[in-house]
Amino acid sequence: MTQRKILVTSALPYANAALHLGHMVEYVQTDIWARFQKMRGHTCYYCCATDTHGSPIMISAEKQGITPKELVERMHDVQQADFDGFHIGFDNFYSTDSEETRVLAYDIYAKLKADGKITSRVISQLYDPQKQMFLPDRFVKGECPKCGAKDQYGDNCEVCGATYAPTELKNPYSAVSGATPEIRESEHFFFKLGDCEEFLKQWTRESGRLQPEAANKMAEWFESGLQDWDISRDAPYFGFEIPDAPGKYFYVWLDAPVGYMGSSKNLFDRIGEDFGAFWNKDSTAELYHFIGKDILYFHALFWPAMLQYSGYRTPTAVNVHGFLTVNGQKMSKSRGTGITAREYLDAGLNPEWLRYYYAAKLNSKIEDADLNLEDFVSRVNSDLIGKYVNIASRAAGFITKRFDGKLAAALPDNELIGKLQAASESIAESFEAREYSRAVRELMALTDEINQYVDQQKPWEMAKQEGREAELHGVCTLLINLFRLLTLYLKPVLPKLTASVEAWLNIAPLQWSDAQTLLLDHAIQPYNHLMTRIDPKQVETLVENNKAQTAAAAAPAAAAQPAIEAIAPTINIDDFAKIDLRIAKIIDCKHVEGAEKLLQLTLDLGDHQRNVFSGIKSAYKPEDLVGRLTVMVANLAPRKMKFGLSEGMVLAASGSEPGIYLLSPDSGAQPGMRVS
Ligand code: 2FM
Ligand code: ZN
Repeated sequence: MTQRKILVTSALPYANAALHLGHMVEYVQTDIWARFQKMRGHTCYYCCATDTHGSPIMISAEKQGITPKELVERMHDVQQADFDGFHIGFDNFYSTDSEETRVLAYDIYAKLKADGKITSRVISQLYDPQKQMFLPDRFVKGECPKCGAKDQYGDNCEVCGATYAPTELKNPYSAVSGATPEIRESEHFFFKLGDCEEFLKQWTRESGRLQPEAANKMAEWFESGLQDWDISRDAPYFGFEIPDAPGKYFYVWLDAPVGYMGSSKNLFDRIGEDFGAFWNKDSTAELYHFIGKDILYFHALFWPAMLQYSGYRTPTAVNVHGFLTVNGQKMSKSRGTGITAREYLDAGLNPEWLRYYYAAKLNSKIEDADLNLEDFVSRVNSDLIGKYVNIASRAAGFITKRFDGKLAAALPDNELIGKLQAASESIAESFEAREYSRAVRELMALTDEINQYVDQQKPWEMAKQEGREAELHGVCTLLINLFRLLTLYLKPVLPKLTASVEAWLNIAPLQWSDAQTLLLDHAIQPYNHLMTRIDPKQVETLVENNKAQTAAAAAPAAAAQPAIEAIAPTINIDDFAKIDLRIAKIIDCKHVEGAEKLLQLTLDLGDHQRNVFSGIKSAYKPEDLVGRLTVMVANLAPRKMKFGLSEGMVLAASGSEPGIYLLSPDSGAQPGMRVS
C-alpha cells in the first residue's frame, strides 16, 4: 500500500460558547477517520484551533469584563479540556489569533489583491451611536418589514420567512445597547467571488470533492448568482487589521479557514514537517475538511476560491455532516439549550459510550442524527458490554487461573479467525468512506457469531471436566485472538479502551496490518474489567444537571433590572371590546419543520378548533403545553404564513430580557369563555 500524506481538519469552534454534544459529532467523526488513517500507516495530521475573532466574541468579552484576548485564551483551554475528555486526538489544537494565521491571512489577501480579486465600495450600515460601533445583522432587532412580527433579527423573519437588509427593519434597536441605530456609510472591501464562478463550477464537478447533496446545493447557489463577499469590518473589531487600511479588520470568516493553515504551520514548524508539501499548489498531499452543513457556503465557495487565486492548493474534499437532535429535539447554540460536552463528562458518563453510539449512527450522507437517550443506554449496554466485552471476560479468567497467564501455541480448527481476518478490508473500506455505521454493523454481526461459538463450546463446562485442559486452552486462546481483532477494528472508535486491551494483552499499539497476525504462546496480564454498563440513572443525572445549568444561566439575567416597555397610547372601552379574547385549551402542539421559533398549536374553543402558530418555542416543549388552558385573540384576521394558516393568536408575556410566559386562566375557566 502506498503511504499517503493527509491533513484533516474539523471546523474551528468559536471561543464564545461551550461545546455541546452536537459539536462532538463532528470531532468524533473526524477523530475516528484520522485515527483510522494513522493505523493504516499513513502520515496523517489532524489540526484544529479555537476560532477567536468577530463581534460576538468581542461583545461577550466586554460583558464579562475581560479583554477578547483573555477570553479566547481562557476558552481555548476550556475547549482543549473538553476535547481531551472525549479523546479527540488532535495533532494540534491552536488558535486563529496567532502569528502564523495572521501572516498567512496577509499573504493570501495580498495575492488576491494583486490578482485583482479585491474591490472596495462604500456601503450603508446600521450604527449603534451609544456603543459607537457598526452592528452585525444579528445584533440588530426590530419588526419585520413584511409581516410586522416583533423581535426579528436583521437578516430574516422567523415568522413569515422574509429576507431583507437590516436597514429595512421597522423600529430597529441595537441588541447590544438597546439604542436606536442610525444609518452610516463606510468603505468596505470585497472579494470578487463572481469572478471565480467558472473555476468554482469546475472545482465542484470534480469527482470526490463534495457529496451529491452538497453538489446540488452548490448548483442552487450558482443558479442564483455569486455575489461579491464583504470581507472587512470597521473598528472596534476583534481580528486582524487589514494591511494599509487602518481601522479596517478582516471579517472573521476571512481568517477562520486560514486558521487551518495556521494550525498546521505551527505543528509542522515544531515537528520539522514541510508546510509547502501540504499547501503549495503542486502538493500531492490530501486535504480534507470535516464540517457541518450550515457552513458549506464558506468551505465550498469562498475557501477554495481564496486558495486558488492566492496560489495555494485547494481541498481534496469537503466532508459535510448533518445536525444532531437529542430525543428528537434540535440543539441550539444560540439559545444555550442542549447538553454540553462538560455536562456529559461531569455526569460520570464514559466518552467512549458516546463515541460508539455516534459511530453506530454515522454515515457519509448529510443526514441529521438523533441521540435518543433510551436507545443510547440500551445499544451501548447490549453491543459493547453484552456482546463485545463479554467475549474477553468469558475467556480471560481461565487463561490467568488455569494456564498461568499464557496463551496456547496453536488455535483449534475454526473458521471464525479467518473470517475476522478477511473482514479487515471491508471494514477498512467502510471507515475510509465514512460509513461508520456499516463498519459497526459488520463488526456486531461478527461479534454475534463469536458469542454463538462460546455458547456452543461452553468453556465453563470444559473447565469442570477432566482431560479437557488443552481444549479449554485452545478455545480461550481463540476467543482472545478474536477479541483482539474486534478491538483492532474498533480502535478508531474506542482508543482508550483499546489502550487498556493492549496493556492487558501485553502488545504494542495495534496497527491495521496486525489483523493478519495472531497472538500465540504469549503471556498476558491479569484481566481487569474493561468497561462498565451505563446505569440509566447516570443519564437521568445528566438531564437533571442540564436543566439546572440552563436555569442557572438564565437566572442572572432575570435578576437584573429589566427595562419596562412604555405604556401604549390610551384607548377607550369600545376599542378594547373589539378584541374578542377567549379561553382556549391546547389539545395538540407540534414543532414546525424549518421554523426556529414557532410551535403549532391546535386550540379547542369549546365548539370548534383553531390552528395557531406561536413564537414560543424557545420557552416551551410541545408535550408540556398539551392539556393547558390559555387565552387567545379569537377574532384576529387569519394570517397566511409560510407554514400554513394561523387562525388567531395566543397571549404571552415577554420583556426586554429573554423569556416568554404563556397566560393561563384561574382554575374553573372553560374553553370558549370570553375574557373581558
Ligand atoms: O461555525 C463555526 O462554528 C465556525 N467557528 C467554524 C469555522 S471553521 C473554519 F473555517 F474556520
Ligand atoms: Zn415577517
